[in-house]
Amino acid sequence: MTNPKLTIRRPDDWHVHLRDGAMLEAVAPYTARQFARAIVMPNLSPPITTIDAARAYRGRIEAAAGPGFTPLMVAYLTDGIDGAMLAEGHAAGVFTAAKLYPAHATTGSAHGVTEVRHIHGALAAMEQAGMPLLVHGEVTDHEVDVFDREAVFIDRTMAGLVRDFPGLKIVFEHITTEEAAQFVLAAGPNVAATITPQHLHINRNAMLVGGIRPHAYCLPVAKREKHRLALRQAATSGSPKFFLGTDSAPHRIETKEAACGCAGIFNAPFALESYAAVFDEEDALDRLEAFASENGPRFYGLPFNEGTVTLARADNPIPESFVTGDIELVPFHAGETLRWRITG
Ligand code: NCD
Ligand code: ZN
Repeated sequence: MTNPKLTIRRPDDWHVHLRDGAMLEAVAPYTARQFARAIVMPNLSPPITTIDAARAYRGRIEAAAGPGFTPLMVAYLTDGIDGAMLAEGHAAGVFTAAKLYPAHATTGSAHGVTEVRHIHGALAAMEQAGMPLLVHGEVTDHEVDVFDREAVFIDRTMAGLVRDFPGLKIVFEHITTEEAAQFVLAAGPNVAATITPQHLHINRNAMLVGGIRPHAYCLPVAKREKHRLALRQAATSGSPKFFLGTDSAPHRIETKEAACGCAGIFNAPFALESYAAVFDEEDALDRLEAFASENGPRFYGLPFNEGTVTLARADNPIPESFVTGDIELVPFHAGETLRWRITG
């Protein structure tokens, strides 16, 4: 077949940053174009820590995204957050999950958790309630090299979480290392991971060779080539433990192209096409549907989506930037041509 088409069950994005206000209005339609549902990260300023705040934010997302898109809300864990409140929000259908940001690990994590022991009560309540824990898996210790922060987190924190809360569903978010992929594979069925398109496409050279390239910078930072290859293997392996989570994280162009540029890659406009290119290159197009549309809902205990999305192998030139009002955003793959496009 020279111009294959691929029709898959409508996918979901299990990790996205939609922001708020004018940025939300600008970016939500890109996610809603491809995905039926998305896990919406709660690292706003201030973060989403209450049922009322999540309900109100959900309403703003629904208004910005339009009909046919379901935002799945996440509570932002803080030291001493009330486990009963989390369970109540979960039972009420407001909180799908809760997110652990180690304090100061990434954008919007200043209110995050300083020591996991401070949320043991909350984690026990979540385990009891069947509410998934989503983890930004990086240590924040200044002595640990930024390229080692994920692997060190596994030993110092993740292994203990899995041991101490054996019934807790845990998603190791946006994994970037061979160590993380191996850890997830070796753990029980209650441990899974999301993988972003950028960590399947680029290694750290993309950020640092020929000049410093802020639009390839996100956290966790892209690692060496061997890690990218391990992630490609994991994503396309057919294992139900790995699923689609874009970590699309828009920042205005002037805050990316700065002396201290923000971490985050805006990949929402062509996320599915970007994943399709990877699965095609790995000769695994028959496994894209499970990764994009089945493994996530199965892990979360949610129904599969009705409806389908069709992709075709056709040139898809990616714009240098998107402008909405006074917001300019540079997308992942800017100026490149992807080999896949959504046709229906
Ligand atoms: C995210 C953001 O900008 O909110 N940035 C990023 O580089 N991924 C935060 C996060 O998920 O770490
Ligand atoms: Zn994120």
